[in-house]
Amino acid sequence: MLTKVKVPMLLLGAAALALIWGSLARAADQLDAETKARVERFEKGAATINVSKYPSGIQANYEVFSQKCSQCHKLSRPINSDYALPDEWSRYIKRMMNKPGSGISRGDGKKIYDFLVYDASVRKKTMVDAKLAKAAPAEKTEAEAKIKEVHSTYDK
Ligand code: HEC
Repeated sequence: MLTKVKVPMLLLGAAALALIWGSLARAADQLDAETKARVERFEKGAATINVSKYPSGIQANYEVFSQKCSQCHKLSRPINSDYALPDEWSRYIKRMMNKPGSGISRGDGKKIYDFLVYDASVRKKTMVDAKLAKAAPAEKTEAEAKIKEVHSTYDK
């Protein structure tokens, strides 16, 4: 039997639980100030890429990228990011694949990697060149080989 005292107590308990639950959920989403500023800057730019001049295989991979990488945040976030080299992409794709519920298979991950490496070598060429100029010689050779590999797979 619920007495006059028990009902308010129950409501209070439920409200407290809701508060705790809410703050836990927010904590999980919280980005540090630096990351938050960076992702906001990335998201300000275009949310699509004109792929009409890219090889057909890369155009197909763009579809996978736009579908999988826009589930949790805007596609403009990766499109306008400062990441451009093959290893930067592998690192971030793996990081995103590991997020709960990402639903990105290894096969999808590879297609997205090929797309992002190809796209960076064309659309972000200045950024790629600047990064390569700063890299250690071995790193530079390795990155160039990885870019070449993607091109030789898709270019006709
Ligand atoms: C399951 C949700 C989810 C999916 C799917 C997802 N992301 Fe993210 N992404 C996040 C979250 C959360 C952050 C911010 C925290 C972080 O960087 O880990 C983020 C941040 C980013 C950043 C900014 C990282 C930084 O710190 O500068 C890039 C770039 C990015 N994502 C690219 C991608 C790409 C590319 C894909 C597709 C392979 C993708 N995301 C798919 C959740 C997701």
